[in-house]
Amino acid sequence: IDIFKNSKPHNCAFSELPKDKGYAQKEGFRFFMEKEIYEQAQVVTEAMMGRVIKGGKIKFDELDAAMFEGIDEVVLCACGTSYHAALVSSYLFERIAKIRTKVEVASEFRYKEPFLNKNSLFIVISQSGETADTLEALHIAKKAGLRTLAICNVDNSSIVRMAGSVILTRAGIEKGVASTKAFATQVMVLWMFVVYLANLREVISARMNSAEISAMLHIPQILKIKDGLQDKIYRMSKHYLHGHGFFFIGRDIFYPLALEGALKLKEISYLHAEGYPSGEMKHGPIALADSNLFTVALMPKHLLYEKTKSNVEELAARDAYILAISPEEPEIADDFIKTSEQSHAMSEFFEMMIILQILALEISVRLGNDVDMPRNLAKSVTVE
Ligand code: M6R
Repeated sequence: IDIFKNSKPHNCAFSELPKDKGYAQKEGFRFFMEKEIYEQAQVVTEAMMGRVIKGGKIKFDELDAAMFEGIDEVVLCACGTSYHAALVSSYLFERIAKIRTKVEVASEFRYKEPFLNKNSLFIVISQSGETADTLEALHIAKKAGLRTLAICNVDNSSIVRMAGSVILTRAGIEKGVASTKAFATQVMVLWMFVVYLANLREVISARMNSAEISAMLHIPQILKIKDGLQDKIYRMSKHYLHGHGFFFIGRDIFYPLALEGALKLKEISYLHAEGYPSGEMKHGPIALADSNLFTVALMPKHLLYEKTKSNVEELAARDAYILAISPEEPEIADDFIKTSEQSHAMSEFFEMMIILQILALEISVRLGNDVDMPRNLAKSVTVE
């Protein structure tokens, strides 16, 4: 039988597939970093799966609660972006879990002959689980007999194998050298762990516990990127290609977020950027303020808004160029990105985090840089 006998001719159009294998893996995004920014709502949901119980408490099946008995201090140790996640959580550990908390840069910790307290919980944070400095810091803490916990993205990595206990962050493979979704999941897991510890220590009220849990469950919503946001940041990014540098400023948990915003920008744009606590500018860096100094001000409504605003006014008075990121527009802003009204500071945190990531990305694109593989950097730093 000739099956083609009565068939009609079809007009087929052919087009050449892109030769770059990465194109398919990028799922239509220009860069892995961009794709990973957009994945954050999903990976943060995964980080919470089975761990954040609506109307209930936080549970980590992978942890033995007995391990935390008698702990009177938390020491967090990491590098780069993971260090910034540690800094964010240090505010939460003290405020919510009411426990003394220290944060250490791993490359400093390993040579400082640290004084270690046996009742400290030593937490290392790492996306790759292979960072040499963090691994060595973990080794020192273990040797000193401390209880250790790794918060890591890569199962079976060196850090995971060495640590006493592990919480995996479940961000999935992160390809962009500039870390984005790994940071989001680290902060999320640390926040969850803080509330878990606060419950074990019986220092959190039922009301606060349920407020934290509902705030957590709201984060994936916050991380969905709103229509028009990237386009707005793209248009604004042309203002930031020159000048003699950036100061990212914030207070409280927004200070480590400012550090992270500055790190993202310098990694992929090669422009000089610093993160600073807003209130510290007057102790020196304000001397740099002029019309060529860009200030990116993180001004959440629910955390010291008026204080940050007056620091920003001091900079504006010296003619610094101000990009304000806030739910409320300060009069002195040259550029403004409006964030939504939120009732929890962590919601404001995650919304601003996305804005800073996209800002770095769009500036880098305009400068023609390789966003995913910036010069002089490697994804994982396995040597000293
Ligand atoms: O894999 P790790 O989290 O241990 O890596 C630590 C840093 O090397 C890393 O966060 C680095 O700073 C990133 N490039 C930041 O985007």
